[in-house]
This record gives sequence, C-alpha cells and structure tokens, in this order.
Amino acid sequence: MSLENQHEPKGSCHLSIFPVCTPACSRCGILLNKTRQTIQSRRPTEFPAMLSLCSRTPSPPLFPFLPESKPSDRKPKALHAANQPHHSLSNPTADNRQLETERGLQFEVSDSFFRHESLTGRDLGVLAAFIYKRSKSQLRVLDAMCGCGIRSLRYLAEAEADFVLANDANDEYRRIILSNLSQIPRYSGDKRRWAVTHFDANRIMTELYLQKDFFDFIDVDSFGSDSSFLRSAFNALKLDGLIYVTSTDGYSSGGHRPHNSLASYGAYIRPMPYSNEIGLRMLIGGAVREASVLGYCIKPIFSYYSYHGPVFRVMLRVNRGKLTVTRHYGFISYCFKCGNSQAYSWDELGQISCTCSDGKHSHSLVVSGPLWTGPLHDASYLTHMFNLAEEWGWVGNGAGFHLEKLLKQMIDESDPKFPFGYIKLDEIASRAKTNSPPLRTMISILQKEGYAASRSHIASNAIKTNCPMAMCVRIVKELQAAEEIKSTRCKTGSKEMALGLFGVRLFSTEVITSGMEEVIHDYTMLVRNL
Ligand SMILES: C[S@@+](CC[C@H](N)C(=O)[O-])C[C@H]1O[C@@H](n2cnc3c(N)ncnc32)[C@H](O)[C@@H]1O
Ligand SMILES: [Zn+2]
Repeated sequence: MSLENQHEPKGSCHLSIFPVCTPACSRCGILLNKTRQTIQSRRPTEFPAMLSLCSRTPSPPLFPFLPESKPSDRKPKALHAANQPHHSLSNPTADNRQLETERGLQFEVSDSFFRHESLTGRDLGVLAAFIYKRSKSQLRVLDAMCGCGIRSLRYLAEAEADFVLANDANDEYRRIILSNLSQIPRYSGDKRRWAVTHFDANRIMTELYLQKDFFDFIDVDSFGSDSSFLRSAFNALKLDGLIYVTSTDGYSSGGHRPHNSLASYGAYIRPMPYSNEIGLRMLIGGAVREASVLGYCIKPIFSYYSYHGPVFRVMLRVNRGKLTVTRHYGFISYCFKCGNSQAYSWDELGQISCTCSDGKHSHSLVVSGPLWTGPLHDASYLTHMFNLAEEWGWVGNGAGFHLEKLLKQMIDESDPKFPFGYIKLDEIASRAKTNSPPLRTMISILQKEGYAASRSHIASNAIKTNCPMAMCVRIVKELQAAEEIKSTRCKTGSKEMALGLFGVRLFSTEVITSGMEEVIHDYTMLVRNL
C-alpha cells in the first residue's frame, strides 16, 4: 500500500497537502518503518520509551484543522452514554470487522492497541472532561496517543467536546480511527468537531504550542516511564486546563530501578511497602518539576492506580505559579524497623532519622524523593464526577459497582488528615504476630480512637490512616486478645472470668505501656461491645 493511500483523499483531510519526505511519513513526520516495527513487535509492557522523531524530519505547514467559529451545542443523542460498561463479546459487522462496545458506543479495534481493562481510566477521563466542559462552556481535547480512537470517540459523544484532535504516531491505525470517529458528524455547521493526525506526540504538542493553539484537555496515554511528553503537553495546554498523564512503570515505583526513576521523574525511588502510591506520587512529582520549569504549578484532580498493567494515571490542573509555593514536593522516609513513615522538606534533608533510633543514623531507614507528598485528589471535583456518574446511570441502583466503589474510596482518601502512604494489614499483623484483622473492624476502631482511617483504592487489604504503626500494632493485639475473651466467654459463660484471663494475658504483653487501670477500662469497653 502506498503511503498516500493510507491517508484520506485530498480535499477531505487538512493534512493531505504535506510534502512527501522519505523515510519519514509525509504527514505524521515519524519514521514509518521504525514506527511499524517498534509498535508491532513489542508488547505494551516492553516499551522502554516511546517513538522518537527524526531530527531531520521537516516541519509541516501550519495546522489548519481547528474549529473556526463558536462551538455548537449539538449532542449526539443516539450515542450518548449507556450504563453498560462494555460487552466482552465482539460483534462482527456486515464486512466481518469485529466491533467492540464500551458504554453503549461501538467501535473497531482491529490490530490497534486496546485494552478493555482501561475502561475505568477512560470513564474517569470522560467524567472529568465533562465537568470541565460544564464549568467552562467549552472543551477542546487533544488525545495525543489515541490508539483506535475510543477515547476520542467518548470525549466527543459523552463529554460533548467541541473539538477532538485524535493523534497516534502509527498511521496504520488511520482507517480504524476514521471509521470509529465517523459516527460523530465531522462538522457541526461550519465548525470541525474532530480531526485525525499521525505525529509523534511531542511534535504535535510542540507545533500546537508554536501556533498558540492551546487545548483545554490533553490526554497522554503513554507506555512505560516516558516523561518526555510532560513539557510539550504543558506548553500546549490552556491555563486552568486539565492534563491526564500516565506511567506504566511498576519497576520504578517499586524502587527496583532508582536510576530510571531519577532519569524519568527526577526522583530516586527506594522499595517501600506502599510502592503503588509512590508510583502516583513519582509521576505527579515529575509533573510538578516539569511544570515549574515553565512557571506553572499543578494540582491533582485525581490519581488512579490500576493493577492491570500496572497503570498509574493522574489528572492535573495546570496554572501559573512557582514551585516554592508548592509545599508538597519533598522526600518520604520509611523505617523497616518500626514501620513509621515521615515526610521531609528540602531544608530538613540533614535531619532525616527515625524516632525508634533516637535520632541516630539507621540502616533501617530508606528515603525516596523528591516526589509529591500532598493530596492525591480534589474531593470536590471527585464529588462532581460521582454525581455525574450517577446522573448518567454509570453508578447507583446496582450499576457500575466497581466505578462507584472506586470514586467513593477516592473521595474518602481525599481527607487532608491523611499523610502519604497506606498501611497493609498484613504488615500490622506480622509486626503484632497475630492474624490479619478484618479491614472494616480496623477502620472503625481507628475512627473510634480519633484517628482518620479509610480504605485505599490502591491496595485492597490496606488502610490509609494518620495512626502511627506502633498504635496500629497495639490495636491489633488488643483485638486479637478481645477475640480470645469472646471465645473464652462463650466457653465459660462468664464475662468476668474471661476478663480475668484476659488481664493475665495483658501482663505478658510487651506492647502495653499504659497503666493497668487504663488498660482494663479500654478492654472492658471492648468486651462490652463484643
Ligand atoms: C496505550 S496505547 C493508547 C490506547 C488508547 N488511548 C486507548 O485508550 O485505547 C498508546 C498508543 O500510543 C501510540 N504511540 C506510541 N508512541 C507514540 C508517540 N511517540 N507519539 C504518538 N503516539 C505514539 C501507539 O501507537 C499506541 O497506539
Ligand atoms: Zn523507626
């Protein structure tokens, strides 16, 4: 197939006027052979870096594809959100192409990169984009790595984007993307609703910036820990716009490639028990740094971790501001001896130590950073997203259990009382030498004790809390002891005898430091509530 045949016929595509230049594609500026080999021969997790642009590739002319006049209010009713997330079975078309369905929208995937498991990440993007559109009355989206174009389709059909630029470096996806987007009329009056291009993401974002053609919302659905898109994405974004960035590098967040995380996000990451939250903080921290180079500051709208991949996705709002006003860019320590974590600002760097070592140097202490130590989400934005999901029938009345649970957990996690990280119940149990306590019981005891406590969307058997590890351990030991009282009481039928036996056990418990009266009072309360 000739290069020209892969693109739209002249007259229907704004880019058909580009001069031919081999070996780079005349229209997308990428090295075609390299692109195809790289994309087709590797699995997504094997991508060490995204495609690179040949330095000698000539610049294309100006982008004349943007909507010229005021956006229209037209809503593609027929396509609008169905509450069914997706059908796992594909439906063949008359010409035998396999069609997938997501939220009631049909689309073709063919050989392009597509994962059903990314549905939630797409849902979150669409909800956030629509909230933006509702508050600003406009929404121009750049889907910088669109794959088959499902996100672009959803931003158009569901988020009611005025214009979507669907870009993917691989021009072999062109037919699929065009066919998927053609469900939405390309024009609304004389205004273009969407366009498809095949540039390297950095190139298109830089070109848009040079044209002063800023977008409200940029989705960069990249592989691995390629952070090279951050700066060009910030450049192409409107002030107060939203940028949805990605990392799929679980090795770096796990602390197994500190030099790699340093190169990509400027953060030296060590192994820590809450490594998947570290992955999100590493990505936000990298974005904070890149934004600060340009005089911008960022605020996370939400931070989403999914174990499929793994995928770390963060939605950020970008505004003017200085890094110095950002209090949340610093270092995190974790002590393997006592299990406590702490945040350190840059001016505390010389004072890093753990209280369990009396301020002395300890080999048990690991430090990661700099990374984002502030809130992972904006509770108010998430609440709007939740209400919208309810309005659209994506959650509530038994629908969308996963999305509902996720959004609720994220809202709970937004409590500013929570420090960074989460505590795995298994870690508490292993320190307490007991069985792992039930999550719900643990959360309710912590809350009764006056601590903030909630589930973490990142780890199912973990809690977010401001309770120190030693106290968590004590509570779990108490809980275990209370369980023993309960079973003794059942056997002896006497609460007092059970409590007496329990008191004996207490004396042999090393962790109990408070006086006997206080302890007995606590346990009496516990036993009463059994
Ligand atoms: C994770 S996939 C996108 C999936 C899609 N967003 C979705 O939700 O189904 C990443 C895409 O980026 C494209 N890609 C890889 N390197 C690129 C680059 N440097 N510039 C633009 N696109 C690139 C790949 O062809 C691939 O389709
Ligand atoms: Zn310690």
